[in-house]
Amino acid sequence: MRWAEMRWIASVAMALAMLAGVALIDAASAQTAAPPAGQGAPPALSGAPLGRTSATEAEVMRQIRQGVQGYVSIPDKKAGVLIQSEGENWRNFRNGPESTYGTWVLLGMVIVLAAFFAIRGRIRIEAGPAHRTIQRFNAVERFAHWLTATCFIVLALTGLNMLYGRYILPPVIGREAFAALALYGKYAHNYIAIGFVVGVLLMIVLWVHHNIPNKYDMQWLAKAGGLFTRGVHPPSRKFNAGQKLIFWSVVLGGAVLTVTGFYLMWPFEFGMTVHDMQFMLVAHGVVGLVLIAIIVAHIYIGSIGMEGAFDAMGTGQVDENWAREHHNLWVAEVKGEAAQHGHD
Ligand code: HEM
Repeated sequence: MRWAEMRWIASVAMALAMLAGVALIDAASAQTAAPPAGQGAPPALSGAPLGRTSATEAEVMRQIRQGVQGYVSIPDKKAGVLIQSEGENWRNFRNGPESTYGTWVLLGMVIVLAAFFAIRGRIRIEAGPAHRTIQRFNAVERFAHWLTATCFIVLALTGLNMLYGRYILPPVIGREAFAALALYGKYAHNYIAIGFVVGVLLMIVLWVHHNIPNKYDMQWLAKAGGLFTRGVHPPSRKFNAGQKLIFWSVVLGGAVLTVTGFYLMWPFEFGMTVHDMQFMLVAHGVVGLVLIAIIVAHIYIGSIGMEGAFDAMGTGQVDENWAREHHNLWVAEVKGEAAQHGHD
């Protein structure tokens, strides 16, 4: 055989061997790309140079992104997930719609209240003060309220700092001061939550029986509590429908914040997966933002928005004319008078 013939045969053999080799590698890769059961030896990548990913590797990457386990031999379920794309989705939601709509909900509430104040002004005691007072809340009730209120305000401020602080504060107070504030704010958030839970539980015990819906609530809501119209005072017992909405928002919103916050304090405990943790974070953030907006409205009406209201939680004594205008049936009950069904 001449040299030329031998070289030709060798070339063909080499080509055939290479084709067979490629076919073998492909077959092997195809097997590894099948969803691994999570047990046994983890499948291996074919080792193609970076930047020249084969279709098979793309499939492997897709599965890794979907959280399929078994590509690494780490027995720990959580650590065995190489890439968790939902983490990116969660981060985008938190820093995108949650933050943006949260800003609008809070700013929207402030704008609505400012407009209401500009148009309606402070809601006055229309008959003027009677200069006779009546006890509205005793010391235990006021303690429960102010415990809940102070804890909630600290929780709201430290929570908002976690969501928005890094956009606003570092240029103002410097990065190091912000880092310290964020750290101690987080500690405060964790511990002060306990006071909030105790406060809400106390308020439930003290006030739940006054917050059961009754027939006057629909009338109150239909007239928007007379808040927009002078001289309109729908009948109300101890709490009107608007206050019941505040009470139940605090109780139900507080319950969601407590449960989700509890899991966030002990991440990945109690069988929580990374998905569960992301859900807890979203629920905690969204409910927290909505409850803050509601409480901003409550603080407005309980302070500058209505003459005579603050005293109820300040001294516990309210002016009798204020009480008759806003809670006529309750006044009748405590004074043992015949019930009048309000005037409007
Ligand atoms: C500085 C802030 C606050 C002020 C000035 C304030 C003022 C008041 C006043 C005056 C009342 C009694 C209303 C009445 O006599 O009918 C009240 C009741 C109440 N407050 Fe507050 N409050 C504040 C913060 C909070 C916070 C942060 C919460 C809860 C997170 C809260 C929850 C409640 C609840 C559930 C009631 C009973 C239902 C109602 O009257 O709406 N308060 N507050």
